[in-house]
Amino acid sequence: MPTARPTAHPTAPTVRPRRRRRLALIGLAVAVVVAVLVAAGAIVFARGALSTAGQVTFDRELAIPPLAESRVEADGTRVFALEMQEGTTDLGQGGPTPTLGVNGSFLGPTLRAERGERVRVDVTSSLGETSTLHWHGMRLPAAMDGGPHQMVDPGQTWSPTWTIDQPAATLWYHPHLHGRTADHVYRGLAGLFLVDPGQGDGADAADAAHDDLPGDYGVDDVPLVIQDKSFHPDGRLDDAPPLFSAVGVLGDTVLVNGTPGPYLDVTTERVRLRLLNGSNARVLNLGFTDGRDVALIASDGGLLSEPVRTDRITLSPGDRAEIVVDVEPGERAVLRSHPQDLGTNPVTARFSGGDDTLDVLELRAAPDLAPSGDLPATLAGAGAEVPNVASATATRAFSLSGQSINGEQMDRGRIDEVVEAGATEIWEVTGRDDMVHNFHVHDVQFHVLDVGGEAPPLDLQGWQDTVYLQPGRTTRLLVTFGEHTDPTTPYMYHCHVLLHEDFGMMGQFVVVAPGDDAPERIEVPDDATHPGHDAAGDGTGPRRTHLDH
Ligand code: C2O
Ligand code: CU
Ligand code: CU
Repeated sequence: MPTARPTAHPTAPTVRPRRRRRLALIGLAVAVVVAVLVAAGAIVFARGALSTAGQVTFDRELAIPPLAESRVEADGTRVFALEMQEGTTDLGQGGPTPTLGVNGSFLGPTLRAERGERVRVDVTSSLGETSTLHWHGMRLPAAMDGGPHQMVDPGQTWSPTWTIDQPAATLWYHPHLHGRTADHVYRGLAGLFLVDPGQGDGADAADAAHDDLPGDYGVDDVPLVIQDKSFHPDGRLDDAPPLFSAVGVLGDTVLVNGTPGPYLDVTTERVRLRLLNGSNARVLNLGFTDGRDVALIASDGGLLSEPVRTDRITLSPGDRAEIVVDVEPGERAVLRSHPQDLGTNPVTARFSGGDDTLDVLELRAAPDLAPSGDLPATLAGAGAEVPNVASATATRAFSLSGQSINGEQMDRGRIDEVVEAGATEIWEVTGRDDMVHNFHVHDVQFHVLDVGGEAPPLDLQGWQDTVYLQPGRTTRLLVTFGEHTDPTTPYMYHCHVLLHEDFGMMGQFVVVAPGDDAPERIEVPDDATHPGHDAAGDGTGPRRTHLDH
């Protein structure tokens, strides 16, 4: 019967080809899925690198932060008044952006005081939430530091006072409320504090070297607070991290002193630029697009021993440097942040901004330039000759990984390290997780002894308070601590990638008189009065760092 064959062999001749077809279809589907994933991965990876090279129309004059007014009281104390406030600012978004500022709607004025001067800053808050104001890079008593323990509540005034006791330098201030630092800085709370050289009897060779440097504020001595931001379509600041970012927000818009697309009219043959990386997470690799050399004259903590010619300045978040740039009459020169080797694996580097290119600022030289003096050959500041290595009395190791230092997250009630006043120590700091971290220590300026056993690069041979951590390579710091003792008020050390800091990558040290003890735990203020603060006080409950709206 013609119909018998199929029933005689019910499966073999018909199902085998069917199974093959099914297997082939499954194989095809898998191949398609893999191809789509690979393509998507490639697209995501490719889009992970950002470039604004040649796309920024430098059409706004660079804003210069105003100098903060001050008065000198009868006892010689120079007094500043700062008010943290809310406002709206034109950040080039076609309408006002809600922002925070100090004595204004965005960023704050530049404070200036001389080495040796006594200062007081009356910090008032008209914010709707608790914050703090920390003097980054300043040597001062811990209770004046403005860290997470010196909270300023809405409507309150906090008045730290101290005597400036360190070389002339470009320092800065910013909030440091535990768990909210990234948010408060991102929305605009930051400004510069310039320590000026001492005069008269106390002045040394480094102080004197400043006389031969460009020093006309806003003319040939120009601060550049560099920050990357991103925006929602309606103009509000957007602090959402890009896809796969482990460092938090990486913006596509660079603001300099709050100015988008800025140009600076240069009227002198040389201009000194005081650079601050005020970004939350982005490491900057600054250089001019024409590859010209600049003279690096100062690092975080003041002048170098002599000018260093270089075409690149790397600044991790919180870092400062001062450079002197020569210009030709009538020319234009563009400062750019170039792609860089962050030392991580390529995927982490890509999603941490390492491959990004961002145009920063255009210098526009006038057709006739006022003459500038020659740069001094020596600056008499800090250099390759590191003093006192043999005098180090302790070595401490700090291992950064995940959201922890030495396996612990920030606990405001825990004293992690006790240091003797005036002691010199070696701190060995290592980022262990192949991610982007840096390391900042309050109250001190340190020397970088070596990085992975090798001499530090030229741009790390001066005083630093913040240093990028090459992943997996130990950075050894020689740190001399101050004389201000306080066994129950700690200073901080932490990663200055602000999201990491907020998540708890921070520890606390106290400075005590030699031979004195400090408690293992201290009282922390009642957090019930500080909404948005870490209720557990132990860093286990990091708050959302996204803006709340
Ligand atoms: Cu710039 Cu602990 O801070
Ligand atoms: Cu600091
Ligand atoms: Cu970090």
